[in-house]
Amino acid sequence: MKFFIDTANLDQIKEAQELGVLDGVTTNPSLMAKEGITGKDNIFRHYTRICELVEGDVSAEVIATDFEGIVREGEELADLHKQIVVKVPMIKEGVKALKYFSDKGIRTNCTLIFSAGQALLAAKAGATYVSPFIGRLDDISTSGLDLIADIRLIYDNYGFETEILAASVRHTMHVLECARIGADVMTGPLSSIEGLLKHPLTDIGLEKFLSDHKKGNQ
Ligand code: E4P
Repeated sequence: MKFFIDTANLDQIKEAQELGVLDGVTTNPSLMAKEGITGKDNIFRHYTRICELVEGDVSAEVIATDFEGIVREGEELADLHKQIVVKVPMIKEGVKALKYFSDKGIRTNCTLIFSAGQALLAAKAGATYVSPFIGRLDDISTSGLDLIADIRLIYDNYGFETEILAASVRHTMHVLECARIGADVMTGPLSSIEGLLKHPLTDIGLEKFLSDHKKGNQ
């Protein structure tokens, strides 16, 4: 399972990278705005900086919603850096653009996936990744994890190579459950990854090892 971090904050990306288990970064227009990154030149420069900080894929989202605009913007983004994956919304024009990018060898991440039908369509159009937003589904009392399981089943039925990128991950149990189901990738805050390392028996055990060592070496 690949671990992506869902942020445009360079310090958080550096911190995640230093942990040594980071496989990539996802961003979206809200996350860019949160960091105060505005204007095309600044936004593009920021994507390049993120690519230089990490080794894996960096999702950069288009703003256009018409086919020509999505294609134009996506090609510009893809030209920025070889690690860029063009993030395209699950709308009709987006599906057409996914097929266009796929035919041209440009990698894509189809975002705002909330149903198995949408994920099936994105895979048919050749998306590299699909991003089902599990946290936002949980927020409206609908199981995000059930959606991941449905997409896994459908993709396995037909051997689709599109990777399931569990997005809108909010906490460590989401990460663990996605791993159980077989999501290919998760993206969430660094805290959702760091939560995996915590266990009170580890802390108690380490404290005992260190105190026994100290006693034996006095
Ligand atoms: C996915 O790529 C999105 O950037 C993201 O995971 C959305 O998460 P949120 O629901 O926490 O905003």
